[in-house]
Amino acid sequence: MSNIEQTLSIIKPDAVERNLDNEIKEIFKKNGFKIVQEKKIQIEKSEAEKFYKVHETKPFYTDLCAYLASGPIVVMILEKDNAVLANRELMGATNPKDAKENTIRKKYGISIDKNSVHGSDSLDNAKIEIDFFFKD
Ligand code: CDP
Ligand code: MG
Repeated sequence: MSNIEQTLSIIKPDAVERNLDNEIKEIFKKNGFKIVQEKKIQIEKSEAEKFYKVHETKPFYTDLCAYLASGPIVVMILEKDNAVLANRELMGATNPKDAKENTIRKKYGISIDKNSVHGSDSLDNAKIEIDFFFKD
């Protein structure tokens, strides 16, 4: 049985800065994701703080929010069968050093903080994150 889901993907500043956004979008498409909506934006630090609020208590929170707001990003709604998990698998582990071959973070990630992509970690969070960027 099919289980079409939508998830939120972000191409982070380190990847956009290196002009990797089109290449990464092609990887999503090749792997069967439909890009339902997309936009290239730069967000304020205050918006990044809201987006990453779940990480508020973590030691990396301040740097993480400053980083997400540091340059243009591409935010996308991706759609596919089991999209949330499929995207997490295609992205690879948070630390590019631990990411498997043929994952986006293995291929493009620079470090644990500059790891090129974000992806929702659950269906509930996917809905919240899609609303965050695309609710008008
Ligand atoms: O992005 P992912 O869901 O894989 O990881 P997370 O645990 O939700 O952390 C969110 C983001 O915080 C990561 O993608 C990293 O960019 C950053 N991070 C960091 O800078 N240092 C850490 N020790 C852990 C995460
Ligand atoms: Mg996460």
